[in-house]
Amino acid sequence: MAEQVTRFSVSLPADLLEDLDEMVREHKHANRSQAIADMVRDRLIEHRQRHGSGEMAGTITLIYDHHSPKIQASLTAAQHEHHHAIVSTLHVHLDHDNCLEVIVVRGKAAMIRSIADKLLAAKGVKHGKLTITSAGHDFPSKHGHRHHHE
Ligand code: NI
Repeated sequence: MAEQVTRFSVSLPADLLEDLDEMVREHKHANRSQAIADMVRDRLIEHRQRHGSGEMAGTITLIYDHHSPKIQASLTAAQHEHHHAIVSTLHVHLDHDNCLEVIVVRGKAAMIRSIADKLLAAKGVKHGKLTITSAGHDFPSKHGHRHHHE
């Protein structure tokens, strides 16, 4: 099913438009409209990550040394405390010392952030990162009906 499209006009400085057209070529967007639609979507997701109360999904990636005292108990306790927001946890024994954990979370942005902050701050976590995105249902499909086989 085709998504409904609305036309509107935008004024841009000439050199900014030139740069946009160059980016459209480099990224093989079909046209300016598609490039701009992609940018708007990215910015909206970013905006909602900061301000939204809608459903978000994300991953928290942690690297830690499992010999570090109590690390596994404290990570497990934190995850049980937030079990309603944690969808799945993947644990990989990277080498003799290091574990990689990827925790899939969903819920409101502020809650996801607070879970990530707690896990990343756990003593013994060497490195960690939160990646957060929209849960998807409040966006039209990325390229409408044209590329649904991608
Ligand atoms: Ni491990």
